[in-house]
Amino acid sequence: MSTIIVVTNQKGGVGKTTTCASLAGVFKANGQKVLAIDMDPQGNLSFSLGAEDVGFTIHDALNGKCEIEDAIKTTDMCDVITSNIVLSGSELEMTTVRREFVLKDLLKTVKNKYDYIIIDTPPALSVLTINAYTAADELIIPMTPEILSLQGLTQLRETIIAVRKYYNKKLNLRGILLTKCPGGRQLLAREVEEMVRLVANQFNCDVLPVKITNSVAAAEAPAHQETLNIYSPSCRAARDYNALARLLYPDIFPDSE
Ligand SMILES: Nc1ncnc2c1ncn2[C@@H]1O[C@H](COP(=O)(O)OP(=O)(O)O)[C@@H](O)[C@H]1O
Ligand SMILES: [Mg+2]
Repeated sequence: MSTIIVVTNQKGGVGKTTTCASLAGVFKANGQKVLAIDMDPQGNLSFSLGAEDVGFTIHDALNGKCEIEDAIKTTDMCDVITSNIVLSGSELEMTTVRREFVLKDLLKTVKNKYDYIIIDTPPALSVLTINAYTAADELIIPMTPEILSLQGLTQLRETIIAVRKYYNKKLNLRGILLTKCPGGRQLLAREVEEMVRLVANQFNCDVLPVKITNSVAAAEAPAHQETLNIYSPSCRAARDYNALARLLYPDIFPDSE
């Protein structure tokens, strides 16, 4: 049975897609069977993992135009269900009574085939996001250490609470992941540190003790359609994502006890 991880934040540019691709890379490198699902109409995760925009997409699966298995593409990185801009029509298209459960129901048929299913979400709190939360075992919330990126997250919190109440009681919030952090000995500004703590309090979760460093390679990897651990295994961000996986998923590492 797989663990379904959803990476979420309604803000764009905070490292959601990078986190999905990088974790997928670490899982794969440790012999795990991985399925990455792109629920963002921008299709950035699909591209980053080298999946072409051909054939069936997550949109087709969600709308019953294909079986979910038929939407799975195999790339050099991992298995991927792609998305494209057509997915942005979902708010109007998904109107059935169980509209929040469509993805969860679809994943039942592939859940046994993977160790980890990683779902990337759009920078919005839409029916797609709710579907991802409903299907999820756990959420990771990336945030950049900037005051503006840390503000206005009340709606995200309320959405998580509502999903827990109505659709997915077991939804586990693993924590806030700080991304694009200054490297070297540079510290975060005191106000930012305080704000991060405040946000974590509001979400009733931890700030994960592993932070992701700002690395040029992290921004370059998507253009090469390689996960960070393949593109630049020794860069800081690649090592950070490895440490993050070690923290959250220790069992996948061969030397873990
Ligand atoms: N650790 C990092 N270091 C440097 N650049 C990063 C890092 N993480 C993400 N980026 C870059 O920041 C931008 C936004 O990241 P992305 O993962 O696409 O965010 P989101 O999916 O939340 O919109 C992208 O250009 C990405 O390559
Ligand atoms: Mg993204």
